[in-house]
Amino acid sequence: MHEMTATNLRSAYGGESMAHMRYRTWGRHAVEAGFPNVGRLFQAIAYAEEVHANNHFRELGAESGAFPVTSAAGFGLGSVSEHLAGAIEGETFEIEEMYPTYKQTAQFQKEPGAVKSFHYAVSAEQIHARMYTDAKKTVDAGKDIELGPVQICETCGYTVEGEAPEVCPICQRREFRAFP
Ligand code: FE2
Ligand code: FE2
Ligand code: FE2
Repeated sequence: MHEMTATNLRSAYGGESMAHMRYRTWGRHAVEAGFPNVGRLFQAIAYAEEVHANNHFRELGAESGAFPVTSAAGFGLGSVSEHLAGAIEGETFEIEEMYPTYKQTAQFQKEPGAVKSFHYAVSAEQIHARMYTDAKKTVDAGKDIELGPVQICETCGYTVEGEAPEVCPICQRREFRAFP
């Protein structure tokens, strides 16, 4: 694999791994703060980030060894609204800068597996940014969000509220994990 794409996959793995843990932490905090549905949204999306991390790791395949990994990551414990703002900021960075750049590089380097892994991630991040933005408006009005079951595609992390679709619109697979 070309070095630039391998570096980007490792960086994205680091970013997704931290996003997974950060959302788990912020999700528990939201439940404790009296926002159980925001907590469930964080836990569901945390799983989507785990799917992305696993995809990137798998694409690295035999590129084994120890590497220093640089990943932009938000830190801090504050209010539920501040955590949602941090989540929106992270997802937006991934949508507007990180994944488009990584995907273009992988296309240039003719690494189709990495292109797919980055494409799956950025498709889900766009949905995450919207869901967190909607949630923040409600939380800023002092209320927990209304939230039906959340479904996460186990292959690409596609995220949808309500019933799982017959077929995932991003990757065409049929297996979803529900956060009811
Ligand atoms: Fe992700
Ligand atoms: Fe995300
Ligand atoms: Fe999918």
